Amino acid sequence: MSVAKKQYKRITTKSLVDMKAHGQKISMLTAYDYTMAKIVDGANIDVILVGDSASNVMAGHETTLPITLDQMIYHASSVVRGITRSLIVVDLPFGNYQSDPKLALRSAIRIMKESGGHAVKMEGGSEIKQSIKRILNAGIPVMGHLGLTPQSIYKFGTYTVRAKEEEEAIKLMEDAKLLEKLGCFALVIEKVPAALAQKVAESITIPVIGIGAGNGVDGQVLVTHDMLGMTHEFNPRFLRRYLDMYDQMKDAFQRYSADVKSGDFPSDKEQY
Ligand code: KIV
Repeated sequence: MSVAKKQYKRITTKSLVDMKAHGQKISMLTAYDYTMAKIVDGANIDVILVGDSASNVMAGHETTLPITLDQMIYHASSVVRGITRSLIVVDLPFGNYQSDPKLALRSAIRIMKESGGHAVKMEGGSEIKQSIKRILNAGIPVMGHLGLTPQSIYKFGTYTVRAKEEEEAIKLMEDAKLLEKLGCFALVIEKVPAALAQKVAESITIPVIGIGAGNGVDGQVLVTHDMLGMTHEFNPRFLRRYLDMYDQMKDAFQRYSADVKSGDFPSDKEQY
């Protein structure tokens, strides 16, 4: 007999842990602006990630490294104004937490105060332990991020699947347990073998949200612009496209342009 799924009026970090405990999968998508956030929230997506992927998607950079704390705060505050239910997690940008735990805390406090987001996300495990501890001690919830961590792209050299070798897989498992022990409320695992991601999810009580990490984890995250098909260049195997917005938008723009140039728009009914 199937058990009725609990409805959550407002998603909190605690609801996510609760959802995992009850076998309820977690949905997460990115948003970087008010209008998109309003739609994503209206669709009852549990978590909205204001990802540093804004650096790629919104600003056209090749990597996530250039985006600044001020830019992340701008995106996050726009998203916060659009939501009523989703939990808002904001990426701490590259350079704001790796070198100095005090700077990490100052950056996380700025995100919480100036954007109104509900939690921060940080890439890495034992290397950033002190920064995570300091932020958690200040009462700010932290979501971890392991596996393919795009802020380390120049160390990896490629966006290929991580932790295929035993040594890296062991480190990933140890890091996941460390993040749980430190008090992180959830973690993202990106682009690792499905069997490893499932093993991690089964070994810890906090939710594991996967991207390119198979179906044995506690939830899934995608970049919204990718799943809407707004880009044609990015075609990883893990991506499922729910629309082809690139073609649909281009077609709309072309029809509008043709209507303007032919004088068909605006019509009598579309003027005062
Ligand atoms: O920045 C981002 O969008 C992310 C997701 C890919 C998990 O970190």
